[in-house]
Order: sequence, then C-alpha cells, then structure tokens
Amino acid sequence: MDLDGSEQDPEMKEYSSVCVGREVDIKKSERMTAVVHDREVVIFYHKGEYHAMDIRCYHSGGPLHLGEIEDFDGRPCIVCPWHKYKITLATGEGLYQSIDPKDPSAKPKWCSKGIKQRIHKVTVDNGNIYVTLSTEPFKCDSDFYATGDFKVIKISS
Ligand code: FES
Repeated sequence: MDLDGSEQDPEMKEYSSVCVGREVDIKKSERMTAVVHDREVVIFYHKGEYHAMDIRCYHSGGPLHLGEIEDFDGRPCIVCPWHKYKITLATGEGLYQSIDPKDPSAKPKWCSKGIKQRIHKVTVDNGNIYVTLSTEPFKCDSDFYATGDFKVIKISS
C-alpha cells in the first residue's frame, strides 16, 4: 500500500514508500533499521535531519547501523565499525584524506571517491517515517551487499 493508500503497479511496487516506524521513536533512538522491499536499510536522525542508506558498508559489508557519526570536513558521516571508512550521510560519498606526495608536510585534504553507498528517500507523514528506495539507475558499490549473494535478507518465493 502506498503512502496515499493506493495500490501500485506491480512493476513499480519496489519503489513504493514503506512505513518503517514512528517519528517519536527515531527521535529518541536517533537510528533505526528496516527492511524495505527485501532491502535492508538504516535510517539515521541526525541534527534534525533524516537519512536512509543501505545498511551494509560498500567496502566489505560492515554493519553501518553500529557505527558512530562524526563530521569530516564539515560533513556528517557514518564511520563504519569494521575498517573505519567514512560515508557522508547526505550523499553516500566515500571520503578519504589525500596528501600531496610532492609536499608530504602539507596538511592532508579530505577528498571524495564519489557515491559509494546508496541513499534512499525518507519522508515523514502524520508522525510516521516512510522510506522510498532509490530509483537512481547508476550502479552503486553498496548494491553488491544489498542484492547479491551476500544479501542477508533473501526474497521469499
Ligand atoms: Fe566498512 Fe570495511 S566493511 S570499512
């Protein structure tokens, strides 16, 4: 059932929004996990904003819902608990620090590897939190752990 209560075209079903919980609860816990159309996601509530992404880290499938949130270069990131990769909450970009080999004494700079973790849309309606899976057609590294052999949740037949 969609947010407006209407039935969806089966082809588009996986892109319909799904209610994952109540606003009052995530504001207390600041994070929650959910399965949206057989895809595991984590939803963060951080500094007044909601962010949803694939739950398993694009690097090796680490559990992002167990990571800490820290700012890097002024951008809030989830830090994967396994190997400490930094992923921006807003865009899913992997951040790394680079140094100029010609000037090793220079301060390292934060750079982006591009979008590595798939971000999903969060909406709030009448005190309920809804997640809509990303329809962006690009191949995202985190898709491997969300849809492949390493997927935890298997589609029931
Ligand atoms: Fe996340 Fe390696 S699995 S940093």
